[in-house]
Amino acid sequence: MSTIEIFLVALDEPALSCETLAEWLDAEERARLASFERARPRRRYLAAHAALRLILGRILGRRPAEIEFRRNAWGRPETSGGPSFNMSHGGARALVAVADKGSIGVDIECGDKNVSAEVFDAVASDAELLASPGRRLERADRLWLWVRKEAVLKAFGRGLSFSPRALTVGAHAPDAGFWRKATLVEQDVVRDFSFIDLALPFRSVGALAIGGCAGEPWKVDIRPLTI
Ligand SMILES: CC(C)(COP(=O)(O)OP(=O)(O)OC[C@H]1O[C@@H](n2cnc3c(N)ncnc32)[C@H](O)[C@@H]1OP(=O)(O)O)[C@@H](O)C(=O)NCCC(=O)NCCS
Repeated sequence: MSTIEIFLVALDEPALSCETLAEWLDAEERARLASFERARPRRRYLAAHAALRLILGRILGRRPAEIEFRRNAWGRPETSGGPSFNMSHGGARALVAVADKGSIGVDIECGDKNVSAEVFDAVASDAELLASPGRRLERADRLWLWVRKEAVLKAFGRGLSFSPRALTVGAHAPDAGFWRKATLVEQDVVRDFSFIDLALPFRSVGALAIGGCAGEPWKVDIRPLTI
């Protein structure tokens, strides 16, 4: 059975100094870092990107600063010769998911994020609307639908540039022990994804998705990381 490793990164109190972490970033990351007006989001961005570099560096046997990223046409960071990875930020925490094959996507949100009934109705597929219009759902169910959609669309590499309404993931109660299937169709090409709800601490809500490995059994290993 293949393993997908997920690192739950604490962003607010890094053990290493911000100066050290900033030295690991490339020019694009430094420019983005400098664009934050407020200190807390700036620190969190720095810690998340440093953690991503540390994790990939350990796998690739390189120093964090030596990791080189390119982006696909929709902005997804990738690294040549490296594992499939994806990152998500949710308040004081980030998730970094890594797999040795497939195309991976992950999403984390703070449990108090409000996906309104209007937003639900705008992103839900016809099947999801039929099963449960947003107005009739609990707030938590709408949030689960949201993180599942983002995880699958990030595994696809398109993010929200691909219509979330074209994807059915369901707004059912979470079940972290059970992989589900989702399909995306683009220009008659059918792509299969598997996704799973994540059992996360700190009232965080998250989901993981993988594409390109139909039927593969996956073990999900979640571990904390302080940078
Ligand atoms: C991907 C997306 C859903 C992320 O939204 P978000 O609310 O910032 O969510 P998250 O915190 O979960 O994810 C952010 C991370 O996802 C990764 N990411 C960025 N674009 C991605 C994509 N297309 N697919 C998968 N992952 C992506 C990055 O690591 C990013 O981290 P960073 O912003 O610190 O660099 C959103 O940015 C999106 O839809 N982007 C693509 C659409 C688009 O129009 N892109 C044009 C730019 S080229």
